[in-house]
Amino acid sequence: MIEESEFDFERFVSPKETEQETTDDFEVSLRPMTLDEYIGQDKVKENMRIYINAAKKRGDSLDHVLLYGPPGLGKTTLAGIIAHEMGVNLRVTSGPAIEKPGDLAALLTNLEKGDVLFIDEIHRLSRQVEEVLYPAMEDYALDIIMGKGPAARSIRIELNKFTLIGATTRSGQLSAPLRDRFGVIMHLEMYTVEQLADIIKRSAVILGVACEDDGAEEIAKRSRGTPRIANRFLKRVRDFAEVIGDGRITADIAKIALNRMEVDDLGLDSLDKRLLTMIIKNYNGGPVGLSTLAAALGEEAVTLEDVCEPYLMQLGFLSKTPRGRCATTLAYDHLGLLKDGQTHL
Ligand code: ADE
Repeated sequence: MIEESEFDFERFVSPKETEQETTDDFEVSLRPMTLDEYIGQDKVKENMRIYINAAKKRGDSLDHVLLYGPPGLGKTTLAGIIAHEMGVNLRVTSGPAIEKPGDLAALLTNLEKGDVLFIDEIHRLSRQVEEVLYPAMEDYALDIIMGKGPAARSIRIELNKFTLIGATTRSGQLSAPLRDRFGVIMHLEMYTVEQLADIIKRSAVILGVACEDDGAEEIAKRSRGTPRIANRFLKRVRDFAEVIGDGRITADIAKIALNRMEVDDLGLDSLDKRLLTMIIKNYNGGPVGLSTLAAALGEEAVTLEDVCEPYLMQLGFLSKTPRGRCATTLAYDHLGLLKDGQTHL
């Protein structure tokens, strides 16, 4: 059950997956199925290709994999590709969905030999569930305690060998014992504009919409380095192209559509701008602590940290210092603000 607070209904630029994107046939078919179809993340992709080929050559399952990086960069997609390339089943769940040790036991005992279990937001597993995961990852076994006190007995249930793929936004959020049990740890990076433009053109072909190179680039520039946002924008720009244009996605149509969605030419939306303006106008450019900023903006600290900050830092608009967040000169310039709090004429 996903809590309402976990979704950003208002934010077009949210990298979080909406319920529709999870279930939508189009979205599923926009996901690449093989490593060859997957655009970007070249280092991750090429190393993963070696690990998959080596495991297949040995007739073994793949070692456990931890994927970390900002939301929307294709962690679930990559898990699907790994399962597909290994020729095994994929089971998808998430940290908050596994409430009790019994929930995890049910998932693990249903896995067939070599299957991939993908746990999104793995840092949100409870301590008790994590304890069940350790022997499962290491020895492919579940230790069940029956009874209480002196009469308590432990029985061991053997599991089929499986691959756990865990995903988290920051590897530092994970407990050390859990992190140590992953044989492969990979960091996903934000995509370049060129890579996003390629993803948009690939998706446009699948959706059957004509998209000019300039149109794809205009959408890519505003997609915050994130394929999920790029694909979401593509679908909305297509709506504008069909209603106010001739159906083709051009740079002009993309500009009109994205301006109407209040996404600026670098992909910033009103929350990003409010955040930077708050630091500049109310805290003299910083440093200011994250919790102070969150309270001042009426937003959750995790939203600012996971959604706004990675991209603002990537653009060089925000710096994190031990004493708090600071807006950079580039941020002042982009917002048309001067250091003394005045606005450019
Ligand atoms: N769709 C979403 N992410 C993608 C990627 N990395 N490559 C190709 N298509 C995608």
